[in-house]
Amino acid sequence: MELIRVNTSMNLNKFLILNRRLHLLKSKAYINGDWVNAQSNKTFSVLDPSTDKPIGTVPDMDATDAKRAVDAAAEAFKTWRNTTAKERSYVLRRWFGICKENRDNVAAILTAEAGKPLSESLGEFDYGNAFLEFFADTARHINGEIVSSPWPNKQILITRQPLGVVSVITPWNFPYAMITRKVGALMAAGCTCVIKPSEDTPLTALVAAQLAEQAGVPKGVINVITSSRENAAAVGKVMCQDPNVGCVSFTGSTFVGKILYGLAASGVKRVALELGGNAPFIVFPSADLEYTVDQALLAKFRNAGQACVGANRFLIHKDVFDEFVTIFKNKISAKIKLGPGTNPGANCGPLINATQAKMVASLVDEAVSKGAKVEIGGKYAKQFGTNFYEATLLVGVKPDMKIYSQEIFGPVAVCSKFNTEDEALQIANNTRSGLASYVFTKDLGQAFRMSRELEFGMVAINDGILSAPEPPFGGIKESGIGREGSRHGVEEYTDIKYTLFSGLAKGM
Ligand code: SIN
Repeated sequence: MELIRVNTSMNLNKFLILNRRLHLLKSKAYINGDWVNAQSNKTFSVLDPSTDKPIGTVPDMDATDAKRAVDAAAEAFKTWRNTTAKERSYVLRRWFGICKENRDNVAAILTAEAGKPLSESLGEFDYGNAFLEFFADTARHINGEIVSSPWPNKQILITRQPLGVVSVITPWNFPYAMITRKVGALMAAGCTCVIKPSEDTPLTALVAAQLAEQAGVPKGVINVITSSRENAAAVGKVMCQDPNVGCVSFTGSTFVGKILYGLAASGVKRVALELGGNAPFIVFPSADLEYTVDQALLAKFRNAGQACVGANRFLIHKDVFDEFVTIFKNKISAKIKLGPGTNPGANCGPLINATQAKMVASLVDEAVSKGAKVEIGGKYAKQFGTNFYEATLLVGVKPDMKIYSQEIFGPVAVCSKFNTEDEALQIANNTRSGLASYVFTKDLGQAFRMSRELEFGMVAINDGILSAPEPPFGGIKESGIGREGSRHGVEEYTDIKYTLFSGLAKGM
């Protein structure tokens, strides 16, 4: 089963070749067009989640390095902001093209540091690279407005201008796509950036910068600083509070997002936050259950369940509950193949680290101790490595169990029953999260009602995957602020300027 819809068919030979393609690995950070160490000369190791063995080291940078990177981005902004949209479009398209030539190399590095199966890494690459292509086009369509004036001798002009340096803080679950989705958009708008990738997955970010350098992205437009968990707070403070920073763009947990939002508030910085989800996956009796379960596998087991848009709560109508659970269990057993990302045929890799694996295991254990029933899975898969957890299906989950309401971020599907459409809506909306939601029904009126009533930024009707460069990606409530992808994703990185031209009357 392909957990991402791309052409990822691959034979054993190709797997073996990809496995050796790590020659783009970098061990230095990238500031102002130079590959640099931390000023302290400290480094930290990056681990392969499948084996827990180091695959490389990168600089462990601190606040001083972060400041240096912000200064470089601010200097580069003075020039980049004045390039034409056409020039920016060309640069982005060159970056897209060079990345495309290195598709297998990037995917191999993604698998090495994020653990995802190679087929999924290729899928993430294609998804991520499509943002560069899309923003290369969008760059040339960032337009202003001339609106009708209430005064006969005055004209109102509205323009969009790049807002400056953007601090880009990216997560470990989609280390390539989250960079291209943010950096493609901000570069199209005329901004420059400092990227701080997750300490679990800095290598993909450095490869992206390396390919940007080859594509001729001018020095200082993209800077990448790497830091360990110990330095994350100090680096984050500079990235949120330096006077030269105009916007903080973050994808990650709601917990960290709130801290960054607080830090950015002191300078009244713009924020673009893409935070945690708690997606309901609602199945009505009219749905085609075989198809719906195939979509459920995509929505749940993509990246071993480590996706903010991943289905977190399966809400199934009572009339089809037992049948849905039986089909789901059988398909999990037949189609989900655990294993290290380089194993041919594996489509569910490890969790990113031991902490994440422990968190998932403890959610399942607590639910089971309170009466939830394991239909399949329910334990670590230590035969593959310490961070592997079995693809799991739980039923009989109750509101007093943490797994009922918490974002799981692992390969664990939790099914509950509902009786009516109103009840489904009430359960689905009873959360402070509001990112993605999924509805399966053949009743057109019901589909429209659900689209209108679900309190989520994104609603997928009869589909398990909704991400692409063209639609606006983002959440409401505590799932975030702002949108990524689409033209709205570019506009996030612009300021609206109103200019009044007065004195147009003759003789003035
Ligand atoms: C996420 O889980 O944060 C991103 C997933 C996506 O872009 O589809």
